[in-house]
Amino acid sequence: MSKILVTGGTGFIGSHTVVELHNAGYEVVIIDDLSNSNPKILQQIEAIIGIKPEFVELDLCDEAKVNEFVAKNTDIDGVIHFAAFKAVGESVQKPLKYYRNNFYSLINLINAFNSSVNLVFSSSCTVYGQPDILPVTEEAPTKKAESPYGNTKQIAEEILQETCAVTPSLKVTSLRYFNPVGAHHTALIGELPIGVPQNLVPFITQSAIGKRGPITVYGNDYDTPDGSAIRDYIHVVDLAKAHVAAIKRLESGKADSNYEVFNLGTGKGSSVLQIIDAFEQSTGQKLDYTIGARREGDIEKVWGDVTKSARDLNWKAELDIDVMMSSAWNWEKYLKDNPF
Ligand code: WQD
Repeated sequence: MSKILVTGGTGFIGSHTVVELHNAGYEVVIIDDLSNSNPKILQQIEAIIGIKPEFVELDLCDEAKVNEFVAKNTDIDGVIHFAAFKAVGESVQKPLKYYRNNFYSLINLINAFNSSVNLVFSSSCTVYGQPDILPVTEEAPTKKAESPYGNTKQIAEEILQETCAVTPSLKVTSLRYFNPVGAHHTALIGELPIGVPQNLVPFITQSAIGKRGPITVYGNDYDTPDGSAIRDYIHVVDLAKAHVAAIKRLESGKADSNYEVFNLGTGKGSSVLQIIDAFEQSTGQKLDYTIGARREGDIEKVWGDVTKSARDLNWKAELDIDVMMSSAWNWEKYLKDNPF
């Protein structure tokens, strides 16, 4: 049985990916420093998959510790690297914190495996900025990121591409996520924002449950059908399954090169107001919202061309907006009765 190291495996996408790896017959070991997640997630994963996931608390910026871990764990067949800081706003205030953490962790990991490993890297559609052409394909030019967070994703991709170009033993797949939302159908794992949610859907569910006030729609004067900004929202379980597909492709040896990039979205865009409406329709919960000013750094509209992922990963998103909204709501209700 192949064993996969999942860094950041107690996080939102990481925890869902651990579940899907297990379901696909993989053994998993999680590394997390718990700086941005809750260790209770490990019990929640156990409640879903029936076994306690192997877990090591470790800061990937500690080179000696990472080397020691890899030297001791010689049975690791692949790595999915989620561990990174990802708060766009915070990254603007604390750029060095983001550059240090997001680059040291990645470089330590590759060095510890002597640049000889199958690696799936957690990237983001933020590397495209506002695309000139929609849907955006993997061949679209990347644009200067609006935030140090986005810049760490762009530069990390360049680090990986340039290293792969001279290191045949390093096989990397960068996965560019659009907007991950929703929760596992058991409502035992989901998104756990720390403090006031910056992202739309967790703010919606916290507003609906009475934890927050009305939602502020950040602008309705965009060049879109209803004036609010458009994104490509994808269910986190679909996203998790794509990581399993990426590991499988790397193991198959069928990759066209030792560095590949894939868009992970649904290929469809939804506006903020459409998401609010979809949430009300699927949950029966009425939402209060006001129209506010645009948010600094936001782009107007983006949705992904997912042709390449469908062809080469043999993967397509299957869960629709209704399931995204209802699963997110079920998770919020679970949290109310079972506070972490
Ligand atoms: C979505 C839309 C907001 C909150 C970011 C990162 C991206 C990824 C996902 C990590 C936008 C609007 C939001 C609110 C609103 N993160 N909005 N009121 O900004 O598309 O992407 O999170 O990988 O890298 O950039 O996601 O959920 O913050 O916003 O109107 O209270 O909802 O303006 O149009 P975003 P988001």
